[in-house]
Amino acid sequence: MKVLDPATTNAIEQCVVALKRSQLVAIPTETVYGLAALATDKVAIRRIYAVKSRPSSHPLILHIANPADLDYWATNVSRDARDLVDAFWPGPLTIVVNRTDSVCDEITGARDTVAIRCPSHKLTRELLLQLGSAIVAPSANKFGKVSPTRAQHVVDDLGDEIDLILDGGECDVGLESTVIDCTTNPPQLLRAGAVSIEQIKDACNIAVSDASGESRAPGMLDKHYAPNCRVVLVADADEADRRRHELLTQGIRARVLDYSADLEKYAHRLYDSLRKADDDKVDVVIAVLAPSSGLGAAINDRLYKAANSLE
Ligand code: TXA
Ligand code: MG
Repeated sequence: MKVLDPATTNAIEQCVVALKRSQLVAIPTETVYGLAALATDKVAIRRIYAVKSRPSSHPLILHIANPADLDYWATNVSRDARDLVDAFWPGPLTIVVNRTDSVCDEITGARDTVAIRCPSHKLTRELLLQLGSAIVAPSANKFGKVSPTRAQHVVDDLGDEIDLILDGGECDVGLESTVIDCTTNPPQLLRAGAVSIEQIKDACNIAVSDASGESRAPGMLDKHYAPNCRVVLVADADEADRRRHELLTQGIRARVLDYSADLEKYAHRLYDSLRKADDDKVDVVIAVLAPSSGLGAAINDRLYKAANSLE
């Protein structure tokens, strides 16, 4: 595995060549690092599942260079989906739509639908444009673990199991894209993420409903995004301090995680903080829940999954 500095000559070109040779390339996006393979390369896509230890029933997100590419991969696209695309692409929003025959079964786990997003990250866009095709890119971590927001996280998780890592520094948002199922009416929220349902309501006047029944995202397990340390959730900073003292007197290494006053910072720092706690051999992270609106919904969703219990 080689880590590429995008400032070096031909960095993007090297990634393009690698992808065309069926290699796996970790790339920065505005949300988290993704593990990319060419969208038409079944062998490389199968290797993504193997490297991540991900069950094949958990479908991948197709990443496209331009919003206009949507119609090559998707059909019967609803008015709501078009409005979401116009408002939020390129950007951290993924739509689930009906797929065309151009999408291979390996991407979707043989579903009729496909998840698509058009990322806004400068390097990802450049890569996609030079590649002249789409990629699939799940988060570049082992299945069930916290997503990577820096190149070093990818090295730590996947290391020599992949071919190249394009080091784009820290990811801007730090949380995954919002996933909206646009095959239902109204559209359903499958994964809270970087774009909030309030933003969607404001921009498109779409009242996204909660996921239910069939369309609940495959792979949305209750315990996901988990660090090794225990995560305990509390309502405010005072309670966090109290808990920390309690634990410290029992000889338990505890650390408080609280950026609840600045949600963008909370999103940006969340995964890195959980990874750092593991590196520092912290036993318990006491995380203060965010206010539940806006970006706070996605932050709390990840915190609940990391804790898998509410205390
Ligand atoms: O921000 C992101 O979306 C990142 C970056 C790298 O782009 N990618 C990412 O991919 O988070 P991944 O594979 O870790 O998560 C994809 C999510 C899964 O929860 C999966 O269940 C859902 O999207 N998904 C994919 N295809 C779907 C489909 N056809 N129907 C319903 N859910 C789908
Ligand atoms: Mg993931």
